[in-house]
Amino acid sequence: MHLSPVWNEGGEGRVKIDVHTHILPKRVPRFAERFGYGGFIEVQHKAGCNARMVYDDGRFFREVGDNCWDPKRRVEECDAQGVATQVLSTVPVMFNYWAKGRDTLEVARFLNDHLAGVVAQHPKRFLGLATVPLQDAELATLELQRVVKDLKLSGVQIGTHFNGRSLDDASLFPFYAEAERLGAALFVHPWEMLGKERMDRYWLPWLIGMPTETALAIAHFIFGGVFEKFPKLRVAFAHGGGSFASVYGRMEHGFSARPDLVATQNPVNPKKYLGHFFVDSIVHAPDLLRHCLKVFGADKILLGSDYPFPLGELRPGEMIQSMSDLSEVEKTGMLAGNARVWLGLP
Ligand code: CO
Repeated sequence: MHLSPVWNEGGEGRVKIDVHTHILPKRVPRFAERFGYGGFIEVQHKAGCNARMVYDDGRFFREVGDNCWDPKRRVEECDAQGVATQVLSTVPVMFNYWAKGRDTLEVARFLNDHLAGVVAQHPKRFLGLATVPLQDAELATLELQRVVKDLKLSGVQIGTHFNGRSLDDASLFPFYAEAERLGAALFVHPWEMLGKERMDRYWLPWLIGMPTETALAIAHFIFGGVFEKFPKLRVAFAHGGGSFASVYGRMEHGFSARPDLVATQNPVNPKKYLGHFFVDSIVHAPDLLRHCLKVFGADKILLGSDYPFPLGELRPGEMIQSMSDLSEVEKTGMLAGNARVWLGLP
């Protein structure tokens, strides 16, 4: 894999790799018409540089700008923000795990081919994480093999759950085994947030649901023995691991207090896995990032911005760079070096 950094900020030798950025193709086929049932996202372009993401039944999802699909705009903004490389992944609403497996595979192949095209066009500026039909682990594994071997993508982004099942579901074990064997990076991103009926106001699915989803996913990886079974799998969780860093003490205490309830699948103390997996840096509070450094380790934090969405860090890496108590080694690691390890770059 080729990656020669093009940005050397202020001569300090810092190069930023942003592992958490989302991209869409400019045109998305009308999959509802093709498959004969609805629920898929369409992109409706408006005058100017904006577009609306809407469900095919007309429900509005989100308005996006041209930096969501135009690689040239993204490169311009990266140059302005000192980002050498963006790791691209689809917008989680495109996971479509609820659809028929074959159909989700077709959508995934369309998105992954697009992603690979953008990476091939700008190999120094973009790397890619594919999407797969997680509800059918056999198809997911086939697509994983294709994107890594043929499309030369770095790995896969998956959601925190699928169709009521969690990431410790045994159906996924062959998929994890193949990702481990291929050395593919795995990025876990929250989607379809739990408790929606309690979170109909104040943007709470994004503010409370997402961090909870992510903590839940980490709990399933730990207690479900996924890290234990696949020790070489390189996994990163979005948004600083969500609320995991805050509830970790409770989880470990629960493991000791009631192993009959907690240690049913994996007898290993959860503290073994701290320092084993990666999280990104989007936590919006320096004190929380300091806590994440203690919980996960300075070598496990990856710069992530959630570009180009407004809940992300609008100037990627600004918070890390502004924290004067962090060492240069910690900063350069978080801004790029740790991402190289997670992505398996030389
Ligand atoms: Co995101």
